[in-house]
Amino acid sequence: MNAGILGIGRFIPEKVVTNLDLEKVMDTSDEWIRTRTGIEERRIAGESMDTSDIGYEAAVKALDDAGVAPEDIDLILVATVTPDQPFPSVACMLQEKLGARKAAAMDVSAACAGFMYGIVTGKQFIETGSYKYVLIVGVEKLSKITDWEDRNTAVLFGDGAGAVVMGPVSEGKGILSFELGSDGSGGKYLYQDSHIRMNGREVFKFAVRQMGESSINVLEKAGLTKEDVDFLIPHQANIRIMEAARQRLELPIEKMSKTVHKYGNTSAASIPISLVEEIEAGKIKDGDLIVMVGFGGGLTWGAIAMRW
Ligand code: ACO
Repeated sequence: MNAGILGIGRFIPEKVVTNLDLEKVMDTSDEWIRTRTGIEERRIAGESMDTSDIGYEAAVKALDDAGVAPEDIDLILVATVTPDQPFPSVACMLQEKLGARKAAAMDVSAACAGFMYGIVTGKQFIETGSYKYVLIVGVEKLSKITDWEDRNTAVLFGDGAGAVVMGPVSEGKGILSFELGSDGSGGKYLYQDSHIRMNGREVFKFAVRQMGESSINVLEKAGLTKEDVDFLIPHQANIRIMEAARQRLELPIEKMSKTVHKYGNTSAASIPISLVEEIEAGKIKDGDLIVMVGFGGGLTWGAIAMRW
């Protein structure tokens, strides 16, 4: 039995904060942010929405798109580093809000690679026949842990959510291969005390190397080559890091998802948000081979090759 994606949904807060808005409150410039990161604006959730509220909106859409009722969900996995509180988990909060009566629920803490960890975990339960339907939500309210005095990090992040319902799919479709990894020795380069702290250069070097390598590795594991790839969905942290992955796969620019200019880095939400946008734009078609690849604090990384 193969596990794949049956339905998708995303939620983006309404409030737009542009680079020009940030210029007014800190020593930065639109030009610096655009050329170093590719970011033009980001969305920020207001006081009225916490992480579970943002995730709920995306989850409802994914369930509706999949045509799966909440009470049929067996497991809810929420990838986030910005839960409403340490416990109960956001996954348990969604279990209640959605009315997913029989679902087990837990959060996955793997920073920006969290959605990849969630997908791969869901795949195991489905392919062993233990569970039929798994809801995976990647959601962040990074604005609540952003240090708005620190221009090194404040310009990078945004809020949002993307969700998928996973379940059994026909032979040859769904998740074909995966790679997950971690390197705790790099934890010091990207972490949260009260706020996000980052050594941008070290994270950049790691990310450029890892995004390319993991993309190639999942193709090899699936018995595929660069030429087989129809679409790349990289974690949307920085256009220069994304470009490095694209070039490693020798893909034309129109075959890489780009939402970083609109939403900034939404951590665990960035890959599912991008997936939803590309599918809705008709850029991913039935039977396409997609590579998704992410990296994050931990350090962590993850990639999958998937037949849509
Ligand atoms: N506006 C203006 N100047 C700035 C800003 C800003 N917002 N931020 C930093 N600068 C300055 C720095 O102080 C530095 O000045 P100095 O040379 O006088 O000290 C100068 O710009 C250049 O800094 P660099 O480090 O050379 O800039 P770089 O080209 O490396 O870009 C960046 C910095 C964008 C942060 C890059 O290193 C990067 O993208 N790193 C990866 C970040 C990332 O992907 N994080 C993922 C987080 S994932 C997660 O798990 C949440």
